[in-house]
Amino acid sequence: MTLSVRPIEPRDLHEIRAELHTHWHSNQIWSLGRCHQADALPGFVAEVNGAFAGLLTMNMDAGGWQCEVITLSSRGLGAGIGAALLKAAEDHAKAKGCRRIYLTTTNDNSKAIRFYQRQGWRFAALHKGIVDRVRKLIPDLPLLGLDGIQVRDEIEFERWFTDDPS
Ligand SMILES: CC(C)(COP(=O)(O)OP(=O)(O)OC[C@H]1O[C@@H](n2cnc3c(N)ncnc32)[C@H](O)[C@@H]1OP(=O)(O)O)[C@@H](O)C(=O)NCCC(=O)NCCS
Repeated sequence: MTLSVRPIEPRDLHEIRAELHTHWHSNQIWSLGRCHQADALPGFVAEVNGAFAGLLTMNMDAGGWQCEVITLSSRGLGAGIGAALLKAAEDHAKAKGCRRIYLTTTNDNSKAIRFYQRQGWRFAALHKGIVDRVRKLIPDLPLLGLDGIQVRDEIEFERWFTDDPS
């Protein structure tokens, strides 16, 4: 198996939209009360033997001191694709001079919560009830998530490239 990671290119749009719909049922992704048009974001594509195998999208915060991973998904679970994409995002953020990279996942996603910690990321905050508040604006957001758990909160993970001020 040959795994490679490269920046998103315009030719990836069809696969990107398919990937976003598979995991989030939309190209619009809510995080921390903000809506991101994820199919227009920069990021990285993973390929296994030349075929699309995973996607990471990211957004630079205003001022450029930190950036957020908006989506991360893998089509070959447990083969190192998620880790390779996350590493590419970290390297990119560092190269751009960010001091911090962060992301959120919803409270039902125990696999992701384990994965980010295994990758060395730290819990940064619990945004209790933030999905409930977004659902008031977007009633189509499903209430039931993975393992039948109600999706209500976002958990924020982070990685610092300088000393963690906390
Ligand atoms: C979370 C997610 C991105 C992880 O992707 P992944 O490709 O399975 O991640 P990896 O393969 O890099 O790592 C997962 C495990 O596989 C292991 N692994 C890595 N390379 C491996 C290999 N060649 N063979 C077997 N296992 C391997 C890793 O060590 C890790 O195990 P560990 O935690 O016990 O150390 C994936 O589960 C996913 O797409 N989920 C759905 C979308 C989602 O929920 N995204 C996160 C919300 S923002």
